[in-house]
Amino acid sequence: MSLIVAEDLVKKYGRVVAVDGLYLNVEEGAITGLIGPNGAGKTTTIKIVLGLLKPDRGHVEVFGQEPWDNPYLRELVGVVHEKAYFPSYQKVLDYIRRVCRIFGIPEARAHEVLGLVGLEDAYDRQIKALSAGMLQRFAIAHAIIHEPKLIVADEMTANLDPEGRSLLLDLVVNINKKEKTTFLLSSHILPELSRVCDSVAIINRGKVYAAGKLSELYEKYATEIIRINVEKPEKLAAELEKLSYIENIKTDARGISVRTAKGEEENLYEDAAKLAKKAKTKILGIETGSASLEELYRLVVTNENKKV
Ligand SMILES: Nc1ncnc2c1ncn2[C@@H]1O[C@H](COP(=O)(O)OP(=O)(O)OP(=O)(O)O)[C@@H](O)[C@H]1O
Ligand SMILES: [Mg+2]
Repeated sequence: MSLIVAEDLVKKYGRVVAVDGLYLNVEEGAITGLIGPNGAGKTTTIKIVLGLLKPDRGHVEVFGQEPWDNPYLRELVGVVHEKAYFPSYQKVLDYIRRVCRIFGIPEARAHEVLGLVGLEDAYDRQIKALSAGMLQRFAIAHAIIHEPKLIVADEMTANLDPEGRSLLLDLVVNINKKEKTTFLLSSHILPELSRVCDSVAIINRGKVYAAGKLSELYEKYATEIIRINVEKPEKLAAELEKLSYIENIKTDARGISVRTAKGEEENLYEDAAKLAKKAKTKILGIETGSASLEELYRLVVTNENKKV
């Protein structure tokens, strides 16, 4: 079952088209990553999903309901922002207890959630004294107090060091398993999210270019994106571009990433060798493989005008 379904969403800020015909699907029980570079439209999409922004066009349903102007949905959704804002002089346990009281939730839940995020030793610390990583774990504890079925987190690891990020993502996996919570996480770091996500949606310029279960995406794109490391990438790329079966090509300092039409990979191997000779350059290596989802991401973010 899908907890979030977005169809053909459009959102403009004045003349800036932040979301431009976006489709998104988040399955119940899954951890889904919304991955894209700065300015891709992640935060705008998330704000629409949370009912904080009204789309200009298109349709979005969260738990089968439109989120805009829908306070009922807040009970079902927990939110973690990039940077947490809490009353800084309050103490960790006091604050979580207070939130429990406001929601009419037994205080035992305060101990439970703080234990879950590993802050049981920080009960008496003031919130302002928490490290960045602890603060994000505190934000997660706060987000799950009311046992939401869905947690939406926008760049929640952005201000943390690699270890802190890794800890936080392990925590997400833990909560997903233990509390059966569905997650939508945004980030611009694909390898990090692909470690914990069941599905990803790759977003750029307000559109989702590729989406699905990670295993399916690997299978779909693994054989189709080929990396050619070559001495003079520009020269070889100029020749390869003339081949009719090349669907996408991206050159960088060390080589070329190519996507061919289905079933044409073998031809590319042969033609690349011939054309390298013609272009008087040397191929250093050709590879396909599991890194190709990252290639796909790179193609999406650097070649946004071409279809990937
Ligand atoms: N309040 C606003 N007014 C005008 N333009 C905006 C506003 N918010 C976002 N934008 C623009 O909309 C586009 C999408 O922005 P958005 O914040 O959704 O991207 P993002 O993927 O979250 O980026 P980041 O990784 O930097 O957080 C960008 O071009 C941005 O400049
Ligand atoms: Mg953002």
